[in-house]
Amino acid sequence: MAMSVLVTGSHGRTGKTVVKALAERGSNVRAFIRDPAQESEMKAIGASSIAVGDMDEPNTILVALEGCDTIVHIGPPMHPDEKAMTCHFVDAAKIAGVSRFIYYSVMHPLRREVRHHRLKLDTEEMLIESGLPYSIVQPMRYMQHLEPIWSKVMADGVHAMPFNTQVKFNVVDLLDLAEATARITLGEGWLYGTYEFAGPEALSQSDMAEIISKVTGKNIEAAHFSIEALQNKARANGASEDRVDQMTIMNQHYNSFGFLGNSRILERVLERTPGTFENYVRRLYTQS
Ligand SMILES: NC(=O)c1ccc[n+]([C@@H]2O[C@H](COP(=O)([O-])OP(=O)(O)OC[C@H]3O[C@@H](n4cnc5c(N)ncnc54)[C@H](OP(=O)(O)O)[C@@H]3O)[C@@H](O)[C@H]2O)c1
Repeated sequence: MAMSVLVTGSHGRTGKTVVKALAERGSNVRAFIRDPAQESEMKAIGASSIAVGDMDEPNTILVALEGCDTIVHIGPPMHPDEKAMTCHFVDAAKIAGVSRFIYYSVMHPLRREVRHHRLKLDTEEMLIESGLPYSIVQPMRYMQHLEPIWSKVMADGVHAMPFNTQVKFNVVDLLDLAEATARITLGEGWLYGTYEFAGPEALSQSDMAEIISKVTGKNIEAAHFSIEALQNKARANGASEDRVDQMTIMNQHYNSFGFLGNSRILERVLERTPGTFENYVRRLYTQS
């Protein structure tokens, strides 16, 4: 029987794109989901098998790993138990004889004041010391943060974020991240490496608003809304106080420093230039 790649967080925004990218490259993907109702959707995007389990329940993880020699672990965002949950997968991977553990981290986990970055840093350390053959990918902020607000941006003519309009980000296309993660997972020669994945341009909210205006022909302004407004919106959407706290810290940090990175490593892994924000907006505009 051919070995499979277990992908965790597979029903999430990142997980779905990674499952697709692996399946497109001929891999047997086993999607780790917690709700059996998600099975048909996961199969439709390319998963060849399904494991229903919970990242908090080690016994479900051991069963999920049967017949898998590789794991791509994508934890839920800003989760206070990131390290403990990853540790369950590391322990099970050792028992199952997994030969590659790919950990989906974040760029600059060393920014320890941003709590979810510190959680990823602690998790990376645990994985590196586990003795398992590993690769770590460290993605920058996604271009896809535009997607949930796209119709509002189009309706109001305002691209608003909870940080000032001038700080810059090397935002990256999630499709490039998924492809690069698949290449690292399935290719030879990437073990014991940590890979920073950033987009090719440093862009402020103002720069992004200009690009959106150019692509759509509408006048889009950049705007800065307050942290209090962010907190109210998050609470109204049912976010826990811990999540509200983590989002506050992250956005305050962005407001001071932005988030810059270098795209050469992503370019090397993809063997092509990573996509620009303009290309991404053209795709989004065409699909909308
Ligand atoms: N967004 C960015 O710009 C960015 C940048 C760098 C790194 N990242 C990292 O990317 C990762 C994924 O983020 P995302 O936005 O794709 O997440 P997401 O869309 O919220 O997906 C998270 C997935 O994890 C699943 N999940 C949550 N708790 C679980 C549990 N206890 N057991 C099993 N499954 C569980 C969820 O299952 P359900 O579908 O059942 O809810 C969901 O499918 C995060 O680690 C984040 O830090 C994101």
